[in-house]
Amino acid sequence: MPVILITGASSGIGAALARHYAAPATILILHGRDADRLDAVAETCRAKGAHVETARLDVRDRDGVATWLHAMDSAHALDLVIVNAAINGGDPGGDVETEAMAFETVAVNLNGALNVALPCVTLMRARGAGQIALVSSLAAFAPLPDAPAYSGTKAALLAHGLALREKLKVHGVRINVVTPGYVKTAMGGEYQGWRPMEIGAEDAAARIARGLARNQDIVAFPWIIAALARGSALLPESLRRLGMSGFKFKIRTGR
Ligand SMILES: NC(=O)c1ccc[n+]([C@@H]2O[C@H](COP(=O)([O-])OP(=O)(O)OC[C@H]3O[C@@H](n4cnc5c(N)ncnc54)[C@H](OP(=O)(O)O)[C@@H]3O)[C@@H](O)[C@H]2O)c1
Repeated sequence: MPVILITGASSGIGAALARHYAAPATILILHGRDADRLDAVAETCRAKGAHVETARLDVRDRDGVATWLHAMDSAHALDLVIVNAAINGGDPGGDVETEAMAFETVAVNLNGALNVALPCVTLMRARGAGQIALVSSLAAFAPLPDAPAYSGTKAALLAHGLALREKLKVHGVRINVVTPGYVKTAMGGEYQGWRPMEIGAEDAAARIARGLARNQDIVAFPWIIAALARGSALLPESLRRLGMSGFKFKIRTGR
C-alpha cells in the first residue's frame, strides 16, 4: 500500500496533489495548519477510497516536525514525501521586503522545508528506499525582484535537492525538485501582477505526479516559461532585466 505524506495539503497545489493521489489502498498523510480546510481535503480523499491521516503543525517547529515524521514512518514506512508548504514573502506596497518578512520566508520556505526533508532522508536512507520531492519554483532560476527571499529559498532548495539526489542515489533514495510556473491557488491570488500561462492546481498536480513517477531530477512546467526561466541565467544582466521587467508584482495581504 503506497504511503504518501504531503505538507501544505490544506490548500492549493498540496490539496490538489492529495486529491490526485487519493485512491483505495493508498495511505495519505496530510499536513497543514488550517483545520477546516485540511479536514475538507481529507474528507474528499476518504470519499475516493484513501486511508487518510491529518496533522496540524507549523513547519518551523523542528522538534515537533521530527517527532511527527518518526512516528508516521514507524507506523507505516513513508514511500513518497512531498515537501510543499511555503509562503510568498514580498512586500504589500511593492517596496523592498522588510527584514522581518525576509527572515520569516526563510524560516518557513527553507528551514521549514528542511525540517521535513532531512529527517525523511535519514529514515529512508536507513531502509534504502523512498522518494522526496522538494517543491521549489521557476523563481529559483529567474529570481523575482519583488520576492527576493522567496526566490532565494527556492534556489536553495533546488541546489540542496540536486546535490542530495546524487549523494542518495546509491542508497536507494530518490530526490526530485519541482519548479512550477504560475499556478492558480490562494498563494497565486496574493500576486497582483502578470501571471503568464497560469494553470490550475489539478493540472499542476497531475504534471508533478507524472514527473515524480518518471523520477525526473527537475519537474518543471509549463515548458515554455521553464525554458525561458532556465535560459535567463545565461543572459547578460541588461537583457535579463528587460525580460524580468514584465514580472513586477505586489503582494495582496489577507486571504
Ligand atoms: N501558486 C504558484 O503560482 C506557485 C508557483 C511556483 C511554486 N509554488 C510553490 O508551490 C507550493 C504550494 O503553493 P500553493 O500555491 O499551493 O500555496 P497555498 O495555496 O498558499 O498553500 C500553501 C500551504 O502551505 C501551508 N503553510 C504555509 N506556511 C506554513 C507553516 N508555517 N507551517 C505549516 N504549513 C504552512 C499552508 O497551510 P495553511 O493554509 O493550513 O496555513 C498551505 O497548506 C509552495 O512551495 C509554493 O512556493 C507555487
